[in-house]
Amino acid sequence: MKNILHIDSSVRHTNHSKESYNSISKSFGRIFIEEWMNKNHQNTVIYRDLGLNPPTFISEDWIAAAFTPKSERTLVQNLILSESDRYFNEVAKADIIVITAPMYNYGMPAVLKAWFDQVLRVNKTFTFDLSRGDFPIETVLSGKTLVLLTSSGEFGFGEGGVRENMNHLNSHIKELAKHLGVGHCYEIGSEYQEFADNRHISSVKQAKQDILTLVELLAQK
Ligand SMILES: Cc1cc2nc3c(=O)[nH]c(=O)nc-3n(C[C@H](O)[C@H](O)[C@H](O)COP(=O)(O)O)c2cc1C
Repeated sequence: MKNILHIDSSVRHTNHSKESYNSISKSFGRIFIEEWMNKNHQNTVIYRDLGLNPPTFISEDWIAAAFTPKSERTLVQNLILSESDRYFNEVAKADIIVITAPMYNYGMPAVLKAWFDQVLRVNKTFTFDLSRGDFPIETVLSGKTLVLLTSSGEFGFGEGGVRENMNHLNSHIKELAKHLGVGHCYEIGSEYQEFADNRHISSVKQAKQDILTLVELLAQK
């Protein structure tokens, strides 16, 4: 049995009557989960739609609470950290983390960054010890797989592509995911949404096909 954490981050819905208004990245997440559940009945899925229910931005009080030893925290500080605790517990339980993300301004949506800011926390996801020298941070969690499903309006963001150096979406998420305990990452995305031409149609089609193939592959593990 596997525990899956499914995180959506587009601010768009999936049920708009005008098809082109719907989120492409969210549709990829749905295909992955549906296919996964068809193939593996004994699974649990925790779902968060950060686009429609944004995390709270961290604050000065949040930082003070996070850096106060647990035994010394006030009731208010525990309350401030309760949202972070909830997200952390969901991550800690997950074997597979599915993150769907649109490219916004060449990076991740603010709501997804806000989620990472809430989750990545000293003495929860990482420990900090200056006796380790120039690399004092050590990740606590391990053994998780990330499935990263993206959509962009322009194209050429992949390896060797004409906009590879402008892709701050995949690289940033993959770097942060290491601190969630992710050891292996699979990336699938579509491009060309803004061109609305045949290149977009075939990019989406290919991504959907690749998602089905990935489920097949992961189901055998
Ligand atoms: C605020 C905003 C910023 C965007 N910035 C970029 C960008 O920098 N590069 C790009 O290729 N597409 C950009 N796009 C296009 C989206 O990546 C594209 O529409 C994608 O399909 C959105 O994901 P979704 O369909 O899951 O909502 C942007 C769209 C919005 C709404």
